[in-house]
Amino acid sequence: MKGIILAGGKATRLRPLTAITSKQLLPVYNKPMIFYPIETLIKAGITEILIIIAPDYSGHFLNLLGDGKEFGAHFSYAVQKEPKGLADAFIIGDEFIGDDDVTMILGDNIFDQDFSNEIKNFKGGAMVFAKQVPDPERFGVVEFDKDMKAVSIEEKPVNPKSNYAVVGLYTYDNRVVEYAKNLAPSVRGEIEVTDLNNIYLKNGELKVNVFNTLWEDAGTFDSLLRVANLMAEKTNSQK
Ligand code: DAU
Repeated sequence: MKGIILAGGKATRLRPLTAITSKQLLPVYNKPMIFYPIETLIKAGITEILIIIAPDYSGHFLNLLGDGKEFGAHFSYAVQKEPKGLADAFIIGDEFIGDDDVTMILGDNIFDQDFSNEIKNFKGGAMVFAKQVPDPERFGVVEFDKDMKAVSIEEKPVNPKSNYAVVGLYTYDNRVVEYAKNLAPSVRGEIEVTDLNNIYLKNGELKVNVFNTLWEDAGTFDSLLRVANLMAEKTNSQK
C-alpha cells in the first residue's frame, strides 16, 4: 500500500496566514499541520509516501520533512502546478503508485484514530470514511439506506441527503489511476474525488466506514483554531 498526502492548493481562504507559508505548514498547537496526516499514514502502516505540493513554498516542505527518515518513512515529492482537483493526485502519482493500492490523505485533514485494521484488511475496490457533522454542505455527503448501505455521494450539495461527510482519507485499488485519467472536470473546473468514489459505488465496490472520533478539515480560521485547541487539551491531559 502506497500513501499520498495532497498538500498543494492556494488556500486563499486562510489569507493572510498563507501569504507567509503553505496552509499545511501552519501550526496546529505544537506542530506543523502536515505532521498529523503523516502520522496518520505511518500509524496505519504506510511508510512509502508521496507528498504533493504547490510550487510556492515547496522548499519549506523539503527543509522541514526531508527524505522522511526521521519519521521512519520514505518521502518523495511532486509539484502540482495548478490545483486541478483532488483526483489529479492519482495522475501525478501514476509512476509512484506503480502496481500497488494507494491511500490518499488530504494535507489539511486531522484525525486522531488508528486506521491500520481497515487498511490492512483492504481487499480491493475503494474504501472511504464518513462522520456525522453539523455542516454537511461543506463536504462530500454520503446517503445511506436503512441498512446503512451507501446509495449516493454528492459533492457539496445545497440540500444534503444526510449529515454524513466523506472525510479526506481514501483507499483505492490500482484502477484508480485509469479512472482518474478519464474523469471530466466538474462545474467548478476540478476533477473530483467524489466522481471517483461514485464510479466504485456504481460498481458495488465502495466500502464506507462510519467513525466517530476527532476529525477536522483545518481549512478555515475557525476549524484551524478549534483543532489546535483540541490538540492542546489532548496533549495537556496526557502530561
Ligand atoms: O475535507 C474533506 C473534503 O475534502 C471532502 O468531504 C470533499 O468531498 C472533498 O472534495 C474535499 O473538499 P474541500 O473543499 O475540503 O477540498 P479543497 O479544495 O479544500 O482541497 C482539500 C485539500 O487538498 C487542500 O488542503 C488543498 C489540497 N488540494 C486541493 C486541490 C483542489 C491540492 O493539493 N490540489 C488540488 O488540486
